[in-house]
Amino acid sequence: MSKSPVNPPRKRPAKPVRVISVSSGKGGVGKSNITLSLALALTALKKKVLIWDADLGLANTDVLLGIRTKYTIHNWLKGEKSLQEIILEAPGGISILPAASGILELSDISQDEKARLIADFDDWKGELDFLLIDTAAGIGQNVIFFNLVAPEHIVVLSNEPTSITDAYALIKALATKYHQKDFYILPNMVKSLQEAKLVFKLISDVAGQYLTDVSLDLAGYVPYDSAVPDAVRRQSPFFTIYPQAEASRKITEVARRLISLEPKAASEGGLALFLNRLGSNALAVN
Ligand SMILES: Nc1ncnc2c1ncn2[C@@H]1O[C@H](COP(=O)(O)OP(=O)(O)O)[C@@H](O)[C@H]1O
Ligand SMILES: [Mg+2]
Repeated sequence: MSKSPVNPPRKRPAKPVRVISVSSGKGGVGKSNITLSLALALTALKKKVLIWDADLGLANTDVLLGIRTKYTIHNWLKGEKSLQEIILEAPGGISILPAASGILELSDISQDEKARLIADFDDWKGELDFLLIDTAAGIGQNVIFFNLVAPEHIVVLSNEPTSITDAYALIKALATKYHQKDFYILPNMVKSLQEAKLVFKLISDVAGQYLTDVSLDLAGYVPYDSAVPDAVRRQSPFFTIYPQAEASRKITEVARRLISLEPKAASEGGLALFLNRLGSNALAVN
């Protein structure tokens, strides 16, 4: 007698994970503070967020949180630690992947390692909604690399000619050499929405003049707020210790806006696509 068909255990349908890089041309414009508090704001809006700390020279998400990183993805690559052992569960419900390991290692991983990474992430990620990648400043290889593996990009800048010029240089490199088209612009340390719009206009005017087919979106803005340096000194995210500060309110608006936006670029493949691209030799960064 034939057995009645048994439904195979159903795998949860892969949930789209928004993978977003946070970059800037110039250093010190607030990427790490913004990434951290944006992650917390998204978490407060019921999203599960992982920060990939990819500023390889100056990884400091742990310092901003006052916690210590023991292991990095380097230990995973060497087979010494599982992903679970590396990822830090930080206060506020966010997770941090200390990634003191760069393009040289990550783009060189073998097919087997790639499969292991994807499987490990699959086991770990549960209900992950957002992966935010805090990159280094500038347009070095690592920055380009992480911007190529992330389908969405936030570019942080302040209202200073150097910051605007450097942000433009980053967008130009990504657009002309690497075919990235969509960027969210996030002015930081400005006085008002008006000033944020001015910064946005400055950068979109140049982009419109010299780059074809590039689309810039104002993601909101974060005002200059003494709560931010104060929180840095206290090694706690400003969103956590000063939830009522203007910077925290505005970062919540940015989080809401990101959630409401349809991801522009092909985010379809989500995390699997991201991890696949991580180990892609096709990414010729030069
Ligand atoms: N919105 C803000 N208001 C006031 N100060 C800020 C703001 N954003 C960043 N800062 C200051 O700028 C410094 C550099 O920020 P950080 O996040 O480390 O920049 P990056 O990661 O881009 O190098 C912080 O230590 C903080 O004191
Ligand atoms: Mg930083």
